[in-house]
Amino acid sequence: MLGITGSIAAYKSALLTRLLIKAGAEVQVLMTPAATSFISPLTLSTLSRRSVYTQVSSEDSWNNHVDLGLWADAMIIAPLTATSLAKLANGLADNILTAVYLSARCPVFFAPAMDLDMWMHPSTQQNVKQLQTYGNHLIDVEEGELASGLSGAGRMAEPEHIVQALNRFFNRSLSMSGKSVLITAGPTYEPIDPVRFIGNHSSGKMGIAIAEEAAARGASVTLILGPSALQPESESIRLHRVTTAREMYDAAMAAFPACDVAIMAAAVADYRPATAAEEKIKKKGDHLELQLVKNPDIALTLGQSKTPGQYLIGFALETHNAEAHARGKLQRKNLDLIVLNSLQDEGAGFGHDTNKVSLIRAGNKTRELELKTKRAVAADLLDEIESLFTEKN
Ligand code: PMT
Repeated sequence: MLGITGSIAAYKSALLTRLLIKAGAEVQVLMTPAATSFISPLTLSTLSRRSVYTQVSSEDSWNNHVDLGLWADAMIIAPLTATSLAKLANGLADNILTAVYLSARCPVFFAPAMDLDMWMHPSTQQNVKQLQTYGNHLIDVEEGELASGLSGAGRMAEPEHIVQALNRFFNRSLSMSGKSVLITAGPTYEPIDPVRFIGNHSSGKMGIAIAEEAAARGASVTLILGPSALQPESESIRLHRVTTAREMYDAAMAAFPACDVAIMAAAVADYRPATAAEEKIKKKGDHLELQLVKNPDIALTLGQSKTPGQYLIGFALETHNAEAHARGKLQRKNLDLIVLNSLQDEGAGFGHDTNKVSLIRAGNKTRELELKTKRAVAADLLDEIESLFTEKN
């Protein structure tokens, strides 16, 4: 599905359509009314060999945006103007393109095109971030001469670059086929009595994003998920629900021998109440003492039993001396890689749809990544893990 909005860069959509058809894609073009002033629907229907949709309905027919949204394997919006970007970021559905976007379940790629100052404006940058937060993929603007005569960032990516970005995305899908990936995610709840527990703020989003990304790359994925309100969408992911750290430990120990990569994204309680009361503890006195005992450390145990060819990845959530603590865990738990996130960084850690992480390997310089969606972090992490496979061979 190719969506075109009203920018002068729309003239490049003809070449983009040709390149997509040449690559073997079926291309359904959608245009906003403004886009038809820049390039004719006839040109695009001729190149795409399909009727072009420019309206939700005409006098005697209605174009079913829901069916169109479900039909597509990918939606590419190129060029995307500042106005249409703002509409998408805010969920407006006032034309065929914006309505189909809201109905689409496939990966969405957007290639903005606008003038330098419009691109740099905080509201545009905020809208871009918003779309990325929804899991859409930015095909970044390029620098050069702009239609206004100004020069700088804002040009739509060249059609060849857009097709390369799509190729990278879809080829990546198969890059982990044949690999078995085990992921722990979410919090653990350690019961105090039948109504209370010791837990933490993990939502499970980070680990679920990694599971989805690994499944999208063709890996066989087992996700051991603590008590999270969320669950993965991909039906190919084997989901194992657990509540306590010991249940997570048992499930991980059982799954580990058959896996090539284990990624420990869960926030596991280090301690649990020594005994869980069978009945609700009644309020009495000013103090209540709970005796806590240590939980097994899943990552540490897997690190001790890891065989050559298996990769073990940990996470570290820190509040201070972050890198030193993370490197300590990397070594102590015999990890191949540790992903550091800090509660000091806005938008990072528990609950957010975004995260800001650093990837740390023994003997290597820390690789600091920018704040991005958890799905994009998952993609970067899996790229790094895939490079571990190649380095070994
Ligand atoms: O779930 P979200 O809301 O998306 O939040 C994501 C996250 C912040 C939970 C995630 O990004 C993260 O940082 N997870 C690890 C959090 C943590 O508590 O780490 P830690 O420093 O306590 O533990 C270090 C590593 O050992 C982790 O890989 C952890 O999974 C593992 N561990 C810890 C204790 C234990 N008993 N068993 C373990 O396997």
